[in-house]
Amino acid sequence: MSAGRKFKIACIGAGNVGATAAQYCLEMELGDVVLTDIAEGVPQGKALDLSETGPVRGYSCMATGTNDYKDIAGADVCIVTAGLPRKPGMTRLDLLGKNGNIITDVCKNIAEHAPDSVVIIVTNPLDVMTYLAFTKLGFPPERVVGMAGVLDSARMRSFVAMELGVSMKNVDTMVLGSHGDDMVPLPDYTTVSGIPITKLLPQDKVDAIVQRTRKGGGEIVALLKTGSAYYAPGASAARMAQAIIRDEKQILPCAAHLTGQYGLDGVYAGVPCMLGKDGVENIIELELTDDQRTALHTSSEEVQKGIDELKELGVL
Ligand code: APR
Repeated sequence: MSAGRKFKIACIGAGNVGATAAQYCLEMELGDVVLTDIAEGVPQGKALDLSETGPVRGYSCMATGTNDYKDIAGADVCIVTAGLPRKPGMTRLDLLGKNGNIITDVCKNIAEHAPDSVVIIVTNPLDVMTYLAFTKLGFPPERVVGMAGVLDSARMRSFVAMELGVSMKNVDTMVLGSHGDDMVPLPDYTTVSGIPITKLLPQDKVDAIVQRTRKGGGEIVALLKTGSAYYAPGASAARMAQAIIRDEKQILPCAAHLTGQYGLDGVYAGVPCMLGKDGVENIIELELTDDQRTALHTSSEEVQKGIDELKELGVL
C-alpha cells in the first residue's frame, strides 16, 4: 500500500453486516467501497443509496455495487461477510458446510483479483472460517485476520459503562479466544481510565458482565427474532479496516494465526494484535492466570472440532 492515493475496500457480502461495514468505512472516508454479492441488484442498490448519502453526511468517497469479482481488483482490504444465516431445520453442521463452501468460493476470487489485500473475515463460525480462508487464500498469515474480539470487547466495554454510568470512551478491555460462548473476557485487563474494574465493581457484577459478554450475540438475536446484530459487527470490521488502511499500529483483539504464542500452534484464536498496513504486524502475549490459559485452550479445542468437521465434509 502506498501513501497519498485513494484506498479501496471490497465488502464481499452486501447483507446487513457488509452494508453496515461499508457505511462506516465511507463515513470515516477510508476509501472507495465496492460492495460485492451474488444477489443481483442488491449490492448495486445499496451502493447507490450509500453514495447518495455522501452529500448529506459530508463524505466524498464513492460506493459501487457489483456481482463480478473483477471489480474488486486492487482492493487494499477485503471485508468478508458473505454467508448464510442458520435457518429453521438447518443443523450446525449444515451451516458449517454451506458457509465453508461460500468462503472457499470467495477466497478463490479474492486470491485471483485482489492478491495483495488484507482480508478480514466476519462470516460465522468466525474462527473456523478464518482458518479456512487462510488455507484457501494462500496469503501470508498476517494478511488473513478474523473479526471477533473488537466486537466482543466493544460489548463488554458498553456493559461496563452502563453498569458504572461512565463514558464508554473511558472503558478499555480485552477479550481472548473464540467468538462464542467459550470466549475469554479478561476482567483484570478491563479498566476505566486506567482503574481496573475489579476495584470499581463487586465480583458478582463483574461475573455478570462477563456472562452477558459471552452471550452478547444471542441477546440480540433473541430480541430481533429474525436476524442477528449488524451495527456493532459492521462498525468493528470497519474499525479494523481503519487501523490497516491508516497504518495505525493499534492494538486490537483479533483472530490471528498463532505459531506457539499462548502455547497454541497452527490455529486461529482471538489475541491482542497490532494492526497496520501489513495486517497483523505483531501479536502481544499477555500474562494469563492458569484458569484463563485453560479457558483459551478449551475455546481453541472447540475451534479445532469445527476444522475437523470441515475436513470430514470435504471442504478443507
Ligand atoms: N458470494 C457472495 N455473497 C454471498 C454468497 C457468495 N457465495 N453467498 C451468500 N452471499 C451473500 C448473501 O446474498 C447476503 O447478501 O451474503 C450476504 C449475507 O448477508 P445477511 O444474510 O444479511 O447476513 P449478515 O447479517 O450480514 O451476516 C453475515 O456475518 O456476523 C456474521 O453471523 C454473521 O455469518 C454471518 C455474516
